[in-house]
Amino acid sequence: MADIFAKHLPPLARAMTEAGPRPFYRPMATAGDGEVLVDGVRVVMTACNDYLGLSGDPRVRAAAARALDRYGTSCSGSRLVCGTLPLHEELEARLAAFLGREAAIVTTTGFQANLALTPLFGRGDLVFSDMANHASMVDAIRLGAAEKRLYRHSDMADLERQLTADTGAAKVIVTDGLFSMEGDLCRLPELTALARRHGARLVVDGAHDIGLLGAHGRGVAEHFGLPDAVDLYTGTLSKCFGSVGGVLAGPADIVGYLRYSARPVIFTASMPPATVAAALAALDIIETEPERRTRVFELARRLEGGLRALGFDTGDAGESVTPIVPVHIGDAELCGRMWKEVLDEGVFTHAVVAPAVPMGRALIRLSLQATHTDDHIARILDAFAAAGHRLGLRDREAVGVR
Ligand SMILES: Cc1ncc(COP(=O)(O)O)c(C=O)c1O
Repeated sequence: MADIFAKHLPPLARAMTEAGPRPFYRPMATAGDGEVLVDGVRVVMTACNDYLGLSGDPRVRAAAARALDRYGTSCSGSRLVCGTLPLHEELEARLAAFLGREAAIVTTTGFQANLALTPLFGRGDLVFSDMANHASMVDAIRLGAAEKRLYRHSDMADLERQLTADTGAAKVIVTDGLFSMEGDLCRLPELTALARRHGARLVVDGAHDIGLLGAHGRGVAEHFGLPDAVDLYTGTLSKCFGSVGGVLAGPADIVGYLRYSARPVIFTASMPPATVAAALAALDIIETEPERRTRVFELARRLEGGLRALGFDTGDAGESVTPIVPVHIGDAELCGRMWKEVLDEGVFTHAVVAPAVPMGRALIRLSLQATHTDDHIARILDAFAAAGHRLGLRDREAVGVR
């Protein structure tokens, strides 16, 4: 008879003991803005999503410390029962106003904000999902009773074909706003037109774009000048907001319904007080310091240009409007080696391999923060130049996965 541990242990054990560059689960300590300590060595951090550099901001830290002192470490209960502080309600009202929605719920993580959509994915309904959507959206659909229709990444013709084939059922299109692995945006104008034409609702996961895109940081809808395009937003407070938590924002009746029906809201402990206060302080900064957004985009474009000049493939030239710069490598093993070489040169990056990207499309993902300095950019470019040279990767033809 098969033993469940014996069945699953071999691949897991192999993965864990594998002698290799060990890009994952690497312990590290924050050393300050844009840098971390890895094995006691100070390196430039380009793997995290603290795009506005707020997780270390003194104002955000002080707000978290005050809430910790006042309310303790945890509410030890769900929002429904004893886990709602006035701070949670304040954050919800502020986020709803910021996103121009009637109401919002905050969840303990961004992952849970997507899982909280599940009551809307009912039997007989159809969910149309971009193939590159985040794992939390994939799981939300799995947990729901609706039928799933996957469309090729940002392929509007494929989506339209599938929308046309299915009439009668209640429909919803779900998409990431900013696809975080390669740094491309969803095609919001086309998505909203298709949604309206086919009577579908549009849900956008703004995990990476809320706080960042648009003149006021309100996300992809503001970026595209389409404030009413999105029916329901989900998002995270762990990236631009320098905290931890999630948000779901939309019409008051739907948000009210989800408050009482979404199991990832009802059956889990609420956001701890310090993280709520940190997110509120971050929102103050997001609303008043647009220069942080300008700075991170400027740094990203400079880095992208520098990497291209070195012969690396950074994807679609000039179209990128995000702080994410992908360096396409292709082969996963080569990507791991490159990751290690770059780390040895003093830069911690994110090696992205399948299943986060399709097989054969491994890449090194660099994400910048408003608090990175000009010197950091120079150090990243020097590291890629040296590492790429050692691995023979500086000629785009040799890397060529596109
Ligand atoms: C697109 C997207 N949605 C949701 C999440 C989940 O957010 P959190 O880390 O707050 O659980 C992430 C996190 O990586 C994400 O990238």
